[in-house]
Amino acid sequence: DGDVYKYYADGEWKTSSSGKSVSILNPATRQVQYKVQACTQEEVNKIFESAKAAQKLWAKVPLWKRAEALHKAAALLKEHKAPMAECLVKEVAKPAKDAVSEVVRSGDLISYTAEEGVRILSEGKFLVSDSFPGNERNKLCLSSKIPLGVVLAIPPFNYPVNLAVSKISPALIAGNAVVLKPPTQGAVAGLHMVHCFHLAGFPKGLLSCVTGKGSEIGDFLTMHPGVNCISFTGGDTGIAISKKASMVPLQMELGGKDACIVLEDADLDLAAANVVKGGYSYSGQRCTAVKVVLAIESIADELVSKVNAKIAKLTVGLPENNADITAVVSESSANFIEGLVEDAKEKGATFCQEYRREGNLIWPLLVDHVRPGMRLAWEEPFGPVLPVIRISTAEEGIHHCNANNFALQGCVFTRDINKAILISNAMETGTVQINSAPARGPDHFPFQGLRDSGIGSQGITNSINMMTKVKSTVINLP
Ligand code: G3H
Repeated sequence: DGDVYKYYADGEWKTSSSGKSVSILNPATRQVQYKVQACTQEEVNKIFESAKAAQKLWAKVPLWKRAEALHKAAALLKEHKAPMAECLVKEVAKPAKDAVSEVVRSGDLISYTAEEGVRILSEGKFLVSDSFPGNERNKLCLSSKIPLGVVLAIPPFNYPVNLAVSKISPALIAGNAVVLKPPTQGAVAGLHMVHCFHLAGFPKGLLSCVTGKGSEIGDFLTMHPGVNCISFTGGDTGIAISKKASMVPLQMELGGKDACIVLEDADLDLAAANVVKGGYSYSGQRCTAVKVVLAIESIADELVSKVNAKIAKLTVGLPENNADITAVVSESSANFIEGLVEDAKEKGATFCQEYRREGNLIWPLLVDHVRPGMRLAWEEPFGPVLPVIRISTAEEGIHHCNANNFALQGCVFTRDINKAILISNAMETGTVQINSAPARGPDHFPFQGLRDSGIGSQGITNSINMMTKVKSTVINLP
């Protein structure tokens, strides 16, 4: 069927024998935009078989050659940015300019990973035995990093290209094969990205892309005996995966409820600009978005009025027109957001703007005087709705932040660097940003969530290391 995008296996584009497809709805128009193949379990089995065979050979390809292939893919990705960006606009309603930035950032990420890989994977260790009690210097240990095998990469809808390459490129440079399961919304952008790797000439079967409903092939993929590592970004599904997967290293980035603590001595213009950028860019659909503002009472009114003045300038509309606020990814997501809004309204929060929704498009909303009894204080809307909680002390803010199951990032605004560092130390999150909104990048920085926000640490260097294991050879002298 010419209308259904093919999946990618064994270096070829294929039609599934299921005869079924999965429809991808455009979040803005709510019409079917694209269709992808609904792959079968048998097809998944075949993919893992070829991945395993291809990986054995790939691990023997010299590191500099693996890097060369990745550089080629990076250049191709940048060359082909237009069709990928168009898919990001149509499939996940990403504003057009941000869609292009995602692809360019992805090309840069691949190149950086290739460079970092040749450096860190060339280093091993040499140890002698006589430092440990009872030993003579008769054992020499040589250790280096070797690949894990087949990495299952599952990126989320909000960065279908970037969070795919952030898993694929460290896996490949380290000598692994990759099976990619793109998100349904964003699958076609993912297939275009895979096409660039295809054009770069990677060996057949080394990278494959299986499409289908997560509810149908998700468990089959994550529990497949051919998987040697899972790198997942997304929501609660990650927790379920971590319980089912056994004896394979996991890298997980799940949700966030990133707090923004604003102290009385903060630069309020800077804080307001970051609250708006952090809270509303891509309509709040980033795990690193500012998801709760914790403002000291004495400056809260002024901060809220500065934030409101900026919200008034946000444009709302179509991603094609580069509107700041665009439709959220799906109707169920919009309904979930609406549920949080209604709960806050019933419990007496102050709405700074009128709540407005048309289809999946939700107008930006700041909800003031949110209290701990409201769902919005704890849950992640993943939409353009941001709660403000007024606090009397920094400690109260830290306490709120640490009481949440999510613990990805947080930020603090103050002119007192000593205070900022003490607060950073007290906030139990993967990262704390001082005087800026949370963000994953630059992409070589360590990126990690604590508690329900994740397992392991990402960022280019950490991901390469995570996708390897240590192998030792010990020379025993007579
Ligand atoms: O949604 C999760 C992403 O890892 C956030 O990345 O901070 O670059 O938007 P970002």
